Amino acid sequence: MMSKYEIEIERAPARAQPLTWETVPFGRVFSRHMAIAYYKEGSWKTPRIQPLHELSLHPGTSALHYGQALFEGMKAYQRADGMRFAFRVKDHWQRLNLSATRLAMPEVPYELFAEMLHALLRLESDIFPPDLQHALYIRPLYFAADPWLGVRPSDTYIFLIYLTPVGPYYVGEVNAYVETEMSRAAPGGTGAVKMAGNYAAAMLSGKKAQAAGCQVSLWLDSTTREYIEEFSTMNAFLVLRGPRLITPPLDRGTILPGITRDTLLRLAQLLKIPTEERDISLHEITEGLVHGEVLELFGSGTAATIMPIRAIHYRGKVWTLPIETPIAQKLKISYFELLSGQLPAPNSEWIWQI
Ligand code: COI
Repeated sequence: MMSKYEIEIERAPARAQPLTWETVPFGRVFSRHMAIAYYKEGSWKTPRIQPLHELSLHPGTSALHYGQALFEGMKAYQRADGMRFAFRVKDHWQRLNLSATRLAMPEVPYELFAEMLHALLRLESDIFPPDLQHALYIRPLYFAADPWLGVRPSDTYIFLIYLTPVGPYYVGEVNAYVETEMSRAAPGGTGAVKMAGNYAAAMLSGKKAQAAGCQVSLWLDSTTREYIEEFSTMNAFLVLRGPRLITPPLDRGTILPGITRDTLLRLAQLLKIPTEERDISLHEITEGLVHGEVLELFGSGTAATIMPIRAIHYRGKVWTLPIETPIAQKLKISYFELLSGQLPAPNSEWIWQI
């Protein structure tokens, strides 16, 4: 890779214990290093790789008060022949900048993003996963750093990337709690960007979901509360008799434009499964379950990959979904074929070799 930034590297000591991949939890084991860049006086300063450390922040740090904070989630993998790559890096970078623009934050240049990531992944070669069921989850984080309580876009920012080796995000069944009282996003709001506050605003619903025995909330549109938008951690897909694969549309700007969502739509086309991006009402789902029209409901996301939903809890009633999920399984197989190289990527940039 041609480099534009002279990244300064400070190496961390070797890992004391090798990783136990079979039991690695999601997001609790971290890389030994992190990449960090500061934005000040109108430009990005030389990025650095440092041992992963706690940040020291002024109590007045703008992001902590007013939420100019966003993140991304990507994955890096290792194929059986040892080839290492990260998946759809450029698409994640583009989405990071969509989020940044919405939050009045400066864009992160691609070269900065890519060079920080590349250098970090090269330094963390000892935590690449042994198989495609595991991944190195990449967490870019970007926030406003001014120590000033004025409500205005910050002049200084911190962009950093660290890694966490992961297995499955969900272990066991996933049931969805249909949130009928609170809203996640409204047209013109921030539902389509990956800002920290979207997740904070969903946590109370998450508690209600948990109390109902569910692992995720299912958000409805905020205007009519008739149409499904997304799960708290994943985009939503419905399979109707046919089979037809349907997912809510992005045009209202209230749904996160998931990279996995997009990958699955492309894979479905390759598999000749008809797809539709259109509104799905809860009525269509419940009636469809009664009449055998609804075959599957599943979530998609970088962390969760493809996760069938076993039941939905809606206004005190439980609707169970069929146990068999052939379309979700078919898509999952194709997704892993894409990662393993058995299926050529529809776009060569999707496989970003390290
Ligand atoms: C991801 O899927 O990468 C996300 O950022 C979702 C988060 C709930 C872990």
